[in-house]
Amino acid sequence: MPPLSGKTALVTGASRGIGRAIALKLAAMGAQVAVNYAQSREEAEAVARECNGFAVQADLGDLTAIEAMFNRVRREFEKLDILVNNAGVGYARPIAETPLEDFERVFAVNTRGAFFCLQEAAKCLPDGGRIVNVSTGATVSSPHNFGIYCGSKAALEQFTRILARELAHRHITVNTVSPGFTETDMYHALPSLAELAPKLTPLGRAGKPEEIAESVAWLCTPEANWITGQNLQVSGGLNMV
Ligand SMILES: NC(=O)c1ccc[n+]([C@@H]2O[C@H](COP(=O)([O-])OP(=O)(O)OC[C@H]3O[C@@H](n4cnc5c(N)ncnc54)[C@H](OP(=O)(O)O)[C@@H]3O)[C@@H](O)[C@H]2O)c1
Repeated sequence: MPPLSGKTALVTGASRGIGRAIALKLAAMGAQVAVNYAQSREEAEAVARECNGFAVQADLGDLTAIEAMFNRVRREFEKLDILVNNAGVGYARPIAETPLEDFERVFAVNTRGAFFCLQEAAKCLPDGGRIVNVSTGATVSSPHNFGIYCGSKAALEQFTRILARELAHRHITVNTVSPGFTETDMYHALPSLAELAPKLTPLGRAGKPEEIAESVAWLCTPEANWITGQNLQVSGGLNMV
């Protein structure tokens, strides 16, 4: 029997990139998956068709939309076993030049939105549930120009550790997966990353979304039940911590 047979999952930001690969991997392992998106409806519906689930629109910057998304997931699946908090927005600009509205936009999605998805999951996941937060290896390497982005993700890593303690008595594990350079739209939006990735990554290239999805999905299996509160660097050797 597939390892996640009978399980239900919500993957945020699953219309494209890493989230899409995670949704497809969880489905290949037997889970039914709700595919969250903000704008890319057609792409999300195509992923959902392969996931025995449905697409659910919610801009994670909008707390009312988050609540409505969880209500719909609970209604359609009747329970939720796995949350993958993957949606995120990239941002690169020196701290000295960063306007308030950009700070608020990035934190609204990467930090506040992710936090309230965690809160909803904490309230509804059954004993033995799984939560995986997608951060970034950049919180370790701290590259210049990534102040807001790394700050927003560092908070998410802290939420992981604290929620792991708070939910441990219910055998719900909470972990972070931190990708290194990964070939997605976000990566291609900054041409300098394609130049840096092979130079900075010990294994000599950028990763593929499917290579991140393997680790996220494994953390959702029963075999990973003894791992909680951790930050797994999935990055071809970038950031050996
Ligand atoms: N690619 C990398 O090199 C890399 C490295 C480290 C960490 N990460 C992290 O990995 C995660 C996935 O990144 P990616 O590279 O796959 O990004 P991507 O290709 O830009 O895809 C982003 C996904 O997030 C969704 N999204 C964006 N804003 C949203 C919002 N306000 N509400 C709900 N969904 C929203 C998008 O939905 P729509 O399609 O509807 O816009 C899309 O599905 C992010 O958290 C990112 O920070 C990426």
